Amino acid sequence: MPDDALVFHPAHFQKQEVTVNDQTIAVRAWENVVYVRQPVDAKYQAMNIYVPEAYFQGASVGGYTAETAPIFLPNQVGGYMPALPGTAQPPVQGPGAGRTSTIAQALARGYVVASPGARGRTLQGSDGRYTGKAPAAIVDLKAAVRWLHHNDARMPGDARKIISNGTSAGGALSALLGASGNHPDYAAALRALGAAEGRDDIFAVSAYCPITNLEQADAAYEWQFNGVRDYTKMDIRMLDYHVERKEVPGTLDAAQMATSAALAPLFPAYVNALGLRSPQGQALTLNAQGDGPFKDYVQSLVMASAQQQLDAGQSLAGFDWLRVEGGKVRGMDFAAYVRAIGRAKTPPAFDALDLSSGENQLFGSALIDKLHFTAYSTRHSTAGDAPAADASTVRMMNAMAYVGDGKATAARHWRVRHGTHDRDTSLAVPVLLATALHGQGLDVDLALPWNRPHSGDYDLDELFAWMAKVAAAAPGAQR
Ligand code: DHB
Repeated sequence: MPDDALVFHPAHFQKQEVTVNDQTIAVRAWENVVYVRQPVDAKYQAMNIYVPEAYFQGASVGGYTAETAPIFLPNQVGGYMPALPGTAQPPVQGPGAGRTSTIAQALARGYVVASPGARGRTLQGSDGRYTGKAPAAIVDLKAAVRWLHHNDARMPGDARKIISNGTSAGGALSALLGASGNHPDYAAALRALGAAEGRDDIFAVSAYCPITNLEQADAAYEWQFNGVRDYTKMDIRMLDYHVERKEVPGTLDAAQMATSAALAPLFPAYVNALGLRSPQGQALTLNAQGDGPFKDYVQSLVMASAQQQLDAGQSLAGFDWLRVEGGKVRGMDFAAYVRAIGRAKTPPAFDALDLSSGENQLFGSALIDKLHFTAYSTRHSTAGDAPAADASTVRMMNAMAYVGDGKATAARHWRVRHGTHDRDTSLAVPVLLATALHGQGLDVDLALPWNRPHSGDYDLDELFAWMAKVAAAAPGAQR
């Protein structure tokens, strides 16, 4: 009963070939499939779908069949900018140029791939109104998930096993998609777009360096970087990790130092109110100076990452802030570590007092390009009588806000990665997210890959091994 514009048309495919490790694989491609009935911007509210040809011949790939294959859902969002659906071809620009795409690698392992585009912070309609401000991107990704559930019986792949992936802003959206499944907060926006009715929860989340918890990220950044005065800062047009970055060096002035000193103490109060426990059961608190079990736990994760290097036979020479004895990492000097990686943002790192950050632009409205989104920066704004975004909109962008919300259906399985050399947000942000999820009884795999800067998809063998493991544990998984 093809009833509407959201129905998948099996016959409307193109043949493509993808090459992975010198092996050429035939795939069927459905590109630029618009996933809502009333798109605001059909170029971005569209999805590319790829299926291994083998599934149309009754064959299996990597142990999966047309019925059992999980659906891999990599979003392409960076910098909270508009994102086109991803393709199976090697990226032509950015740090990954020429490399086999993550999508091609997933196809070679038997995944059905659906890569959704999404609106972003700079989009404008022909009337000049802004069309991609928060919460547009998450509403779009949810609409794409709804479309996949809507068409589950008509296409290969199992929509009960959707595994989302993203990096940075895309990692934040991947996590948010997993934390806020089916939540009524988004119902009106989905209805307005003519999204498919039904579920938008997903099975599993992969999030690389998620730039999430923006309400608390300024305080978290100063908790970590307060003692560091010199910085190398990127232009907001180059925030997007897909783009080659240019960084400008500088030193915090007296006013910025004062801002850092005012923000840092807000963080312990926030952490303590969360009431989180480490996987070992310890209450993760901080004292007024920002020291205590939570900081110890963050350090233990950095040290575990260093220990893994040693165990793999790699040298830790030059990392003078680590204390290594007899082949074991025994301790670290957190302040020296933070100085060594360096500050990449000026305070407040996200809600800039002069509205100059990418996140200010994310939280703009149809008529106003840039808004504040925290109480601190609204009160201390240097941008005149600058208004703030609605608290409800800010919440709708924060994965952390939905963890433990009884109205949400959370993804069961989580893989969170944040490199020890990432300075785009505080280490505390992914650690708090993973810890809160674990506290809800969810399956969480958190690690801080050694010396990795702000990036994603750098450990695809491990990512796909994790995906295969969680998919095998899915209810009704028959492999
Ligand atoms: C990204 C990086 C940032 O530093 C930020 O504030 C937002 C997004 C990104 O790479 O997507």
